[in-house]
Amino acid sequence: MILVTGGAGFIGSHTCVALSAAGYDVLIADNFSNSSPERVDGISEITGKSIHCVRADVCDRGAMEELFSRYPVDGVIHFAGFKAVGESVAKPLEYYRNNIDSALTLCGVMSERGVRKLIFSSSATVYRADNPMPLDENALLGCTNPYGWSKLMIEQILRDLALSDPGWSIALLRYFNPIGAHESGIIGEDPSGIPNNLFPFVSRVASGEIRKLHVFGSDYPTPDGTGVRDYIHVMDLAEGHVRALGYISSFSGVEAFNLGTGKGTSVLELVRAFEKASGRPVPYVLDDRRPGDIAVCYANTGKAEEKLQWKARYGIGEMCRDGWNWEMRRRKG
Ligand code: UD1
Repeated sequence: MILVTGGAGFIGSHTCVALSAAGYDVLIADNFSNSSPERVDGISEITGKSIHCVRADVCDRGAMEELFSRYPVDGVIHFAGFKAVGESVAKPLEYYRNNIDSALTLCGVMSERGVRKLIFSSSATVYRADNPMPLDENALLGCTNPYGWSKLMIEQILRDLALSDPGWSIALLRYFNPIGAHESGIIGEDPSGIPNNLFPFVSRVASGEIRKLHVFGSDYPTPDGTGVRDYIHVMDLAEGHVRALGYISSFSGVEAFNLGTGKGTSVLELVRAFEKASGRPVPYVLDDRRPGDIAVCYANTGKAEEKLQWKARYGIGEMCRDGWNWEMRRRKG
């Protein structure tokens, strides 16, 4: 059985669908601080299987011990954590405490129970901004905000853990920009309040919920002057976890993998693709750069292709189609 912490969240829920389709028995642990139990019902609806789910905070050692004693967990995918970059700058102590404490608690209980297969949900944000593109896994590391540092610190903790005991098999998955939704439209991303990230913001402009998009920067050294990112369909990302789980079953140590498409898309290209997929206009204004943003970021995906036998299948049009499908269902409630 695979324990998925934060399994009711955006990437976690889609990964549960992919795991279940691949034949894994899934157990979700989530405190629903930024998600809801309805998401778990959505996973069951898609998979046609009932999903085990425990409401628990991963920082709660007693709750984790109980969970490991009740269920036959033999591997863990750790998604649970705070993830808003801006909020992490305002509340660094909360971010460090929650993200690092949950990883330490989880690994402590896993160690005690002899469960040493772990996939950690990391981010491309662990790479320094001054690396040449595309980024491979050996690019220089360094962050600009507490959220990113918490990911990088946990990567280091996991490397030290694996050095102390060769029984550990750990994959660090560094995500680029996950967007889109399951093609059924039953689950997707649902940020509360005004979204900070481009894709959910664009969805809400297309639906009419928000009046217009502010394009942050039109003077970057890119073909159309707007920022370029490596957007990846969340179901491709989910499949990457399934492959990584297979990989670590016959591997010991720690290995980092980029999960991206290897292709860059600009803000304006994404806007046009979304307009085409939705048949709705996405009004925008060109605005100043957002502090902390870089011009271009995309992955070298060679390592994941070679070692995980994984490659993203979906293009930007499909990401927009599935994201829009979800947005329409979300609005209908
Ligand atoms: C951000 C985080 C990153 C995190 C990722 C999760 C920052 C600096 N980085 O990445 O750590 O892992 O989200 O997906 O916050 N844009 C607009 N208008 C908007 C919003 C965004 O023009 O209203 C532009 C940005 O300037 C950027 C692109 O869209 O060029 C993508 O932005 P976003 O979706 O926020 O992702 P990142 O900044 O790449």
